[in-house]
Amino acid sequence: MNPRLSLLTTPASLEIADRVRALQADGCEVVALQTGDPDFAVPAEIVTACHKAMADGWTHYGNTRGLPALREALAENARAELNVDFDPGSEVLITNGGSHAVFCGLQALLSPGDEVVLLDPSWPQYAAGVLLAGGVPVRVACRAANDFQPDVEDLRKAVTKRTRLLILNSPCNPSGAVLNRPRLEQIAKLAVENDLLVLSDEVYRTILHTDDEYVSIASLPAMRNRTIRIDSFSKRFAMPGLRLGVIMASAEWIDAVVPISQCSITNVNPSVQLAGREALTNPAVMAASREMSQRYTERFHEIVDYMDSLQLKYHKPQGAFYFLVNIEPFGKTSTDFALELLERKQTAVVPGVSYGDSCDHWIRITFAASIDEVKRGLLSIAHFDK
Ligand SMILES: Cc1ncc(COP(=O)(O)O)c(C=O)c1O
Repeated sequence: MNPRLSLLTTPASLEIADRVRALQADGCEVVALQTGDPDFAVPAEIVTACHKAMADGWTHYGNTRGLPALREALAENARAELNVDFDPGSEVLITNGGSHAVFCGLQALLSPGDEVVLLDPSWPQYAAGVLLAGGVPVRVACRAANDFQPDVEDLRKAVTKRTRLLILNSPCNPSGAVLNRPRLEQIAKLAVENDLLVLSDEVYRTILHTDDEYVSIASLPAMRNRTIRIDSFSKRFAMPGLRLGVIMASAEWIDAVVPISQCSITNVNPSVQLAGREALTNPAVMAASREMSQRYTERFHEIVDYMDSLQLKYHKPQGAFYFLVNIEPFGKTSTDFALELLERKQTAVVPGVSYGDSCDHWIRITFAASIDEVKRGLLSIAHFDK
């Protein structure tokens, strides 16, 4: 067996997910707030485009970098929305979702022993992907008192001669923290001074609950050629099951990632790629996506009011569709709390420790679920001891 597998720990979130399935198989109704899977239906035009592509014969192997038409649409969209300029011919690779993009990116970028600075809390797949690539995750805690924003001096202290890469995720899963321009400028300075690459995971970039501008670090001077930009259709267009994502980076890095993608999946399903092109180029789908983002923000406000009325302590996200709820008053680890909440109240949440040790006083709930379900779950949390 690959010895690197022994470095991976089973995330508590998977333990919860297994338990949820077992309870549901026993006929138990569970309030499911554990998975970031949009509860909205995928816009109908996307389904139609996918059907049509298959009926038209798009059922063969395709270009391993992705269909040129989709790469062009993605490059154009990133130019218009983020002011970043990647050439669709040589600097864009279509992937099987953002997860595959992260995995392939890390496999291509890292040599054994390379250190990777990760923010804590962060999406667990980063640390797993770094370990599988032979890298060494170095975690930098982002404090709740600092709105879960990284302190650039803490980042600086974590950088050594072996540091190769810094992973950013804005808006962040699980904290919802969004990195603003001044902070990104400080991080960019650090990256340039230490010759670091930055993997920028922007899969939640269209789900924002403030009016602040969204900035991609790739748009800052000197950062374009050291940024590996990752995006996905899963959250933005409510199509996680269709598995469509993208990496944008300089041609040198895309050339390095292509063989990893080729030998893992050959190419992404062409009919899904044409559905993705439809999403980006059909104004009705873009409007539907904006509407979903607005609905998340409406839920965000309603949840804030509801948690206040229940006197729950929580962290207010600036983007994405998760809340971190503070469980310190209950005096339990986040894993024990989540397992007990599931057994006693049939409510599924993710223990904060899944995202890093600094988050063990928190649990994560998603609001990519109906507001009624979210409220029922929050009531169970507030009544945990009753
Ligand atoms: C931060 C982050 N990045 C990437 C992904 C990957 O999403 P997908 O593979 O569906 O594109 C997720 C999914 O939850 C995520 O939370």
